[in-house]
Amino acid sequence: MRKKGKEKDSIKEPERKRELIIEDITDTAEDLEEQETFTPMTPDTSDPGHLPADLTESGRVIIHMENIIKRYFIGKPNEIEVLHGIDLTVREGEFIAIVGQSGSGKSTLMNVIGALDRPTEGRYTLDGVDMFKAKDRDLSAIRCRKIGFVFQTYNLVARTTALKNVELPMLYSNTGRLARTRRAKDLLKMVEMEDRMKHMPDELSGGQKQRVAIARAMANDPAIILADEPTGALDSATGRLIMDIFHRLNREQGKTIVLITHSPELAEETGRILTLKDGLIIGERKGSGKPV
Ligand SMILES: Nc1ncnc2c1ncn2[C@@H]1O[C@H](COP(=O)(O)OP(=O)(O)OP(=O)(O)O)[C@@H](O)[C@H]1O
Ligand SMILES: [Mg+2]
Repeated sequence: MRKKGKEKDSIKEPERKRELIIEDITDTAEDLEEQETFTPMTPDTSDPGHLPADLTESGRVIIHMENIIKRYFIGKPNEIEVLHGIDLTVREGEFIAIVGQSGSGKSTLMNVIGALDRPTEGRYTLDGVDMFKAKDRDLSAIRCRKIGFVFQTYNLVARTTALKNVELPMLYSNTGRLARTRRAKDLLKMVEMEDRMKHMPDELSGGQKQRVAIARAMANDPAIILADEPTGALDSATGRLIMDIFHRLNREQGKTIVLITHSPELAEETGRILTLKDGLIIGERKGSGKPV
């Protein structure tokens, strides 16, 4: 595995971290393919199992942030504070939307929630883990096991098939070869992509790529799905299909979903809508929680 030095906060950092997720799993994939040895995944006994989706008020708290501040270029004269004190509580099984103008800090907040980026100050507990105390290697394990990321630009590994893309996170979690392939096929079936599983990403449409990316996000059965403008690059009919998949994952599997969107209509379909402005949550209201 490639060694990663301690990274400084810089303009490129979040993008680089997103790439690192892919590099991590690709490196592991290559290592494991070479060795041809696979250890079956250890069952996570702390997994409370799937919960009904309507536990919005009474469910277990899965994301808890108090006064989260995120600064870049710390200590330099041109220090930038992007998040100015975010308080956020999300319960297991919630489907929430984060909206706000470009530059308001939505992706920065998502990167902090998803352990792609460390907060500078405040308190953050993710599924019982104190994220200020967690070491770097704990953070990658958390990203691998607890969180499924979906990005606007899909971020699929270009040189491998849809099936292998979905398998990659399971290599990282040491899932055995047979179990990995079986689960990847099931997940591709869930997003109705089983007939394209041998295709390379560049042979797929945007909507198809995003369906593969969602299947990949689900690979290690994460508790939380973080989706940063997942329909941003798609036409509205295709965006609708993607949104319906998120509703199903939330309703049928109790997945906690945090969706960043520029679409007021899509935000309205979630259970709760938070509005971010200049690095602060300035509004919170209930949504219908149902697809239109
Ligand atoms: N690594 C970084 N270093 C310095 N400033 C950053 C960094 N990442 C983001 N910013 C700044 O933080 C602010 C919020 O950026 P962010 O990407 O979170 O906005 P956003 O709400 O996701 O916008 P959009 O809707 O355009 O995606 C911006 O002013 C941006 O320039
Ligand atoms: Mg953004």
